[in-house]
Amino acid sequence: MQAMSLIDDAPTLPTRAALADRVPPPDLAIQFGGGDFLGVGLKTLKRLVADCGLTPSQRVLDVGSGAGRLAVALTGYLDGRGSYEGFDTYPFGLDWCRENLTPRFPNFTFRRADVLNRLYNPNGAVHAKDFVFPYPDADFDLVVLNSVFTHMLPEDVVGYLTQIARVLKPGGHAFITFYLLNDAARALLPASTGYPRLGHRYGAFYVENPADPEEAVGYEETFARHAIAAAGLDITSITPGSWCGRPYEGYVQDMVVARKG
Ligand SMILES: C[S@@+](CC[C@H](N)C(=O)[O-])C[C@H]1O[C@@H](n2cnc3c(N)ncnc32)[C@H](O)[C@@H]1O
Repeated sequence: MQAMSLIDDAPTLPTRAALADRVPPPDLAIQFGGGDFLGVGLKTLKRLVADCGLTPSQRVLDVGSGAGRLAVALTGYLDGRGSYEGFDTYPFGLDWCRENLTPRFPNFTFRRADVLNRLYNPNGAVHAKDFVFPYPDADFDLVVLNSVFTHMLPEDVVGYLTQIARVLKPGGHAFITFYLLNDAARALLPASTGYPRLGHRYGAFYVENPADPEEAVGYEETFARHAIAAAGLDITSITPGSWCGRPYEGYVQDMVVARKG
């Protein structure tokens, strides 16, 4: 484990160089979209510290942990008092994490959840709306979903929000990325040359590709706000990303931070 500050109030972020021996092979890129694996992980970690007050001794759940993009950054941040749990539907990134991270960082655990996702796990045994996260109530200080609800349909998102609220400790935070549709995003999208365009609307949600809806899913911001509040979480910040044609300021998806009261 990285040598970190001993004072939780002044945690030190890891450097790229410290993490350079923990990068998965390029064939796992479907789970992180290619690009700068370490750079994106470190940028996300920085936001978790700034927006959620993440300290090295806390317990983190990474839903849809992929090929370990956040986990790798956290191996340089969490200390022996902290711990990390990741679960995902897609086995290959998990296998890499289990083989390459857990032996070096035993407080990092990865589990397979055989949950249906038509893009990542089309033969999954359990519908996401019915999936009970395999952790006790009030177990985590922070729950992260980075680029996961952007691949999930409304009733599944609602079910996951209930689980997120259940496994969070009082005062704990959820950090969730979305494609949020509001007046500003709708005004920008027609001129956007980026991806996704989310041109197919179904009430409160939008998809890129009706033949494969979980390829990319966006939500009316009002729907997301209501669903988060209905789960018992209070939104503390929404930071817009560049996906709909806003200037790029380091983040593509919209970031929502919510707190369990
Ligand atoms: C675009 S990847 C992002 C991975 C990771 N969070 C990251 O930022 O690198 C989306 C991930 O969500 C996972 N996923 C999709 N549906 C899921 C579900 N219902 N429960 C858990 N993971 C899911 C996929 O298997 C995939 O690894």
